[in-house]
Amino acid sequence: MITQSNQCTQKIALALTGASGMPYARRLLGGLIQHNIQVYLLYSEAAETVAKQECDWVLDDDFAATKQRLSAEFQAKSGQLQVFERHDWFSCLASGSAFPDAMIVCPASMGTVAAIANGLSDNLIERAADVCLKEKKPLIIVPRETPFSLIHLRNLTALAEAGATILPPAPAFYHRPQTIDDMLDFVVHRILQHLQINEPKAYRWGLTRLPEKD
Ligand SMILES: Cc1cc2nc3c(=O)[nH]c(=O)nc-3n(C[C@H](O)[C@H](O)[C@H](O)COP(=O)(O)O)c2cc1C
Repeated sequence: MITQSNQCTQKIALALTGASGMPYARRLLGGLIQHNIQVYLLYSEAAETVAKQECDWVLDDDFAATKQRLSAEFQAKSGQLQVFERHDWFSCLASGSAFPDAMIVCPASMGTVAAIANGLSDNLIERAADVCLKEKKPLIIVPRETPFSLIHLRNLTALAEAGATILPPAPAFYHRPQTIDDMLDFVVHRILQHLQINEPKAYRWGLTRLPEKD
């Protein structure tokens, strides 16, 4: 839903954890901001390492500076992006009474998947996901590991049983992607679709014309 008004259409928590896949996370954050979503951003310590490794993306423990940097990078409106510290139990993400409309964990490490599946709530990412499930709001988990062990699969199954959507970053090829960005967009657009965010550029089978073959 794109609106012309200044009012954000939805409030969404986005958690980045230390799995491979930061290019998805970066594009997703940009997409949410572009779609006028109020974003509450969280990232783990391991996410900082992976973001630097994979795309020279600087996320660090100076959360205020990171908020300013990312707001500038994605041209967020004033206050549209908030970045929370890892143990900010006073944030709106720590309680069901003020929880946003949905939460995405992208990429989701197997460590964080295990922690959420077992209700550990030891940091704000785990607690926010726990609250999201108990409040029965959409929780989208974008898990990344290959291959999955039985333990990973059991944890993901437990999350699916608890109501989460398990949306692996598995781009398709039937839309004939030409670039890496096309492949990133496929996954990002599927996430947006699950949150009823209408991205006009999203590929829709049977509706979108395919690019001509070379
Ligand atoms: C470059 C890099 C890539 C990684 N990729 C993955 C991955 O794809 N999946 C995964 O579960 N863990 C991966 N890890 C390991 C996690 O970062 C590690 O288990 C960490 O403790 C997860 O912590 P977090 O869940 O708090 O982010 C990776 C680590 C690094 C440094």
